[in-house]
Amino acid sequence: MSTVGVIGLGYVGLPLAVAFAQEGCEVIAVDIDARKIEAIEAGESYIGDVSSESLRALAGRIHPTTRYAQLAQAEAVLVCVPTPLTRNREPDLGPLIEATRALAEVLQTDQLVVLESTTYPGTTRERMLPLLEESGLAAGRDFHLAFSPERVDPGRTDFTLRNTPKVLGGLTDACAERAEALYGLVCDQLVRVSTPEAAELTKLLENIFRSVNIALVNELAMLTDRMGIDIWEVVEAASTKPYGFMRFDPGPGMGGHCLPVDPFYLSWRAREFDMATEFIELAGKVNQQMPYHCVAKAQRALNNAGRSVKGARIAVLGVSYKPGVGDVRESPALKIISLLLEMGAEVVYHDPHVPGIAEFSLESMPLQEVLTDADLALIVTAHPDVDHDLVARRARLVVDLRGVTGGVADANVVRL
Ligand SMILES: NC(=O)c1ccc[n+]([C@@H]2O[C@H](COP(=O)([O-])OP(=O)(O)OC[C@H]3O[C@@H](n4cnc5c(N)ncnc54)[C@H](O)[C@@H]3O)[C@@H](O)[C@H]2O)c1
Repeated sequence: MSTVGVIGLGYVGLPLAVAFAQEGCEVIAVDIDARKIEAIEAGESYIGDVSSESLRALAGRIHPTTRYAQLAQAEAVLVCVPTPLTRNREPDLGPLIEATRALAEVLQTDQLVVLESTTYPGTTRERMLPLLEESGLAAGRDFHLAFSPERVDPGRTDFTLRNTPKVLGGLTDACAERAEALYGLVCDQLVRVSTPEAAELTKLLENIFRSVNIALVNELAMLTDRMGIDIWEVVEAASTKPYGFMRFDPGPGMGGHCLPVDPFYLSWRAREFDMATEFIELAGKVNQQMPYHCVAKAQRALNNAGRSVKGARIAVLGVSYKPGVGDVRESPALKIISLLLEMGAEVVYHDPHVPGIAEFSLESMPLQEVLTDADLALIVTAHPDVDHDLVARRARLVVDLRGVTGGVADANVVRL
């Protein structure tokens, strides 16, 4: 495989483009966002997991472009466009359909097309295939088609594309074999399933598993709050069981592009089969409650200190959806901030990974500065490069939604 095309150069597509280029492939990297194309051309990465140095080192091998026509040279094309929800929480396949239509216009005999975007079972066969066949080429005969879900965990360094097993399912055996040959270049272990649908559902199972387990421990956190039991102590103790238990930590809710979105792709699809996926709905409901619970907790902590939320200066620490990354998509911190602002609080924040939040016209302030005069420091996302012991010592009052102040037995710290 010497030339690989990648459509959609975001959190998933750009690292993939880099991985194939590092293995010696020529990579045609397509995105409709001209700013991304310019940034790659300038050797400037906008994705935390990809360094600008690595982009510059691969400058001759990654060919960024907004023009689909160049994909005609590729032997394989990987589609990594967003799969969001509509306002009614239904799958929005708009970007995928648009990308597939544009690809169909330049599709070549013998090309392999792989969808990597997370989606409901049936998307590759029922939505992509007919559009690609409008090219006049037949899937499984003239071109190959497969689905292989991306498992990237932004910010993670121990598991990478190379050492994370990659699941794939082809339309035909020959499609799967082509996909195996391709991914074998960048992944050590491939897991072949029988169909694209099985591969599509595998990704959803993984994400739903996380969503449900996070909701379970969050529900317990709301209960232990009333019972006066420390949820962190309980989670810690349960985690000592060497089998049959997997640790999930409570927190202010789920964020990111995946967990709050993907499960609803399946619940939507399930309705066509007269099934209500109750675990998915319930987990979504519980997790969406968490920002409200956290704000109520902050309100109680202020009340006990003789203050109201109205007029209080609240320093939010960490606004991205998870530690070590700058992604604020669906971050529960945004909901928490908007609830606090509605209640009349003055909100400031510190996040070394998020310089500003345009929707609130807020900019990150240095940690020391943000703690000065704050009535409450609210730890929403615990970045590893923030000294939370220092926060616990310096702040007048701390509400810790991540259980990172465990070592500090100060009376001014309240934990979720
Ligand atoms: N971010 C993650 O951690 C992650 C992990 C696993 C799977 N996924 C899935 O991968 C897919 C992509 O996610 P992402 O986080 O990389 O999204 P992203 O928004 O970071 O990147 C998507 C890119 O696609 C581009 N794009 C949109 N429409 C296009 C079109 N018609 N033609 C060409 N480019 C187009 C956008 O400009 C953007 O640069 C989604 O389905 C997501 O659920 C994401």
